[in-house]
Parts: sequence; structure tokens; C-alpha cells
Amino acid sequence: MTRFIFIADTHCGSTEKGYQQQKRYPDNIPGIIEKLDDWIRQDASIDFVLHGGDMIDFTSKENILNAVKFFSLSVPVYLCLGNHDLTKEDALDMWLTYAPSFFPEGKPNYVIRHKDITVYVIPNHWCEHPYYWEEELFPHFREEQFEFITNEVKRPNKQSGNTDCYRNTNCCQNGSNQDGYNYGSCNQGNSGNFHHDNETEQNNEKNNISILCTHGIVAGVPAEQTGYETDIHVPPESFRNEVKEIIMLDPRIKCVLSGHSHINTNVRRDGVYYVTASSLTEVPFEFKLIEVDSTMLKISTIPLAPYVSFSYEYNYDRTYVQGREKDRMVIYKWEK
Ligand SMILES: [Fe+2]
Repeated sequence: MTRFIFIADTHCGSTEKGYQQQKRYPDNIPGIIEKLDDWIRQDASIDFVLHGGDMIDFTSKENILNAVKFFSLSVPVYLCLGNHDLTKEDALDMWLTYAPSFFPEGKPNYVIRHKDITVYVIPNHWCEHPYYWEEELFPHFREEQFEFITNEVKRPNKQSGNTDCYRNTNCCQNGSNQDGYNYGSCNQGNSGNFHHDNETEQNNEKNNISILCTHGIVAGVPAEQTGYETDIHVPPESFRNEVKEIIMLDPRIKCVLSGHSHINTNVRRDGVYYVTASSLTEVPFEFKLIEVDSTMLKISTIPLAPYVSFSYEYNYDRTYVQGREKDRMVIYKWEK
């Protein structure tokens, strides 16, 4: 089984102002992330953390370096860049320079291949200038991202050269096996205890399921969840169509993970689960636990509020942010 954590919209370096759906406590952000790591260490079988974007509130060297410090967790952390991560024209260069461990092979688009799952991390763009956000919010992908996925779909698992390593505390430490051989392509950077997945190397067959991660919300937040008259956070039709095009490139994509809205959603369309996460740093400090084996995908939403040591206020006028049980949970089973 592969088990990983999906979080989004931590907005490190933010003030109490700015877009939020529930109250954010900027001074407590490092402490909340620490509680997440406590949870991971206690669980002891999490393979990695995937951050769905807006890790920081605005691009600066200080914010990026602080994020690297806060997210030095006991498992590898990967980032799908969001609009708030890209508020300078040279933001991508800054991320790759100051936070290389978040980007396998030093690129913003990459694939996490595990024994049970393939995760395409493809940050959407927002304006003409690539990897930059000023004011315009026009989510879209660029031609080279479609080409990247097309090539990755053709690539057998064995030759992925990406993050085809997984946690195995019994076998190796600090990126080396018991013989001390360092598996150079293990891309963790944050901690030890990783090695190549022999099972993956021997199994050239594709996984049963793939996930696409991008920052922009794809399916919107349904009116039946919020009680509003219409759906909110609905992106342009063109963006939805581009996501559909990506899914056609790899029809094993059964789940699209996003952030951006700071609201938990789970919308099923044409056999695909469109899932968004609330902000880890807004009350009640939730993350998603994603579990996959050869027959099942399970996504649960878990709050860290019971573990934090400061007092906080929850806005009960906005319980739709946390969502109903069906907005917070996915269980998808398929034939072996
Ligand atoms: Fe965003």
C-alpha cells in the first residue's frame, strides 16, 4: 500500500489578512506543521507529503527559505506550485535554487511513481508569462506540459528516473542500504530511510490508478455543499477541458487533487474524483490522508485541531468549508 498526505494553501509568511475561508493564525503556522510531522512520525507508514500549492503567501527569498525550514519533515515533501508561490517573474528560478528538494529532477512538472500509484504533478499557469501570477487568474496549461505527460505515459515504470523510491525503515537509512550503497536517484532531501522500490523495478506494468495534482480547482464548489444559489470557484470551461485532455492522455487518472479554494470538495464526474483540500493553516487545520493499494483508493480528511496547543475560533457560519462527510471522504474500489 502507498500512503501519502496531501495538504494545500499554507500561506507561510502571510498576515491575518488575505484570502481565507476559516481563520488563519500566521504566528502558529510553524507549530501546526510541526503537529503534522508529529502525526506522520506516530503513524510511521507515510511515504511522502504532497503540497498542492500556495505554500507561501508571496514570493521572496525569506519566505521560501522559511518554508524549507518549516517543511523539513520526517518524510519527503513535494510541491505543486500555486499562484501565491509565483508572485515574482523569476519565482520559478528562486524556488529551484532555494528549495530544490521540493522538485524531483529540479523541475516544476514531475511524476511521483510508487508501487501502487502514479502521481502527475503539473502546476497550472495563470497568465501569459509562465510560472507567474500578478493579478489575472486564468488557469491553463501550456503545450509543453501536455507533451511532458504524453512522454511520461509512454515511459515504463522501470525507467521513470523520478521519485521511484519509497519508505522502508527496515532496510536502509539516510538514502543508503545496509551495504552502504547510496541510491543516488532517491529524491528525498529531507530525511533518510528511503531506497529504491525493488517491487517497482521488477514490475514493468503500469499501476492501476493515476492521480493528477494541479493547484487550480477544476470542478468548482457545488451549490448543494455551500447552500449558495450557484456553484462557486468555478474555473473557465477551457481549463476543465484541458484537464479532460490530460485525463484522455492517461485514462488511469481517477482523481484530480487541487487546492486554491481552501474548501474541501469531492465532485465525481465521468468516473473521476475532483478533490480539493481546505487550508492546513486555517481552523481546524486539516490534511488529507491518501491510501492506495492494488484494488482501492481511499481519501480521508483529518483535522489537527485536537493536537494544537493554542486557542482558536471556528466560524460556524462556514461549515461548508469542511464539508459534509461525502465532501471529505473518497472510497473507490476497482477489480484487480
Ligand atoms: Fe491559490
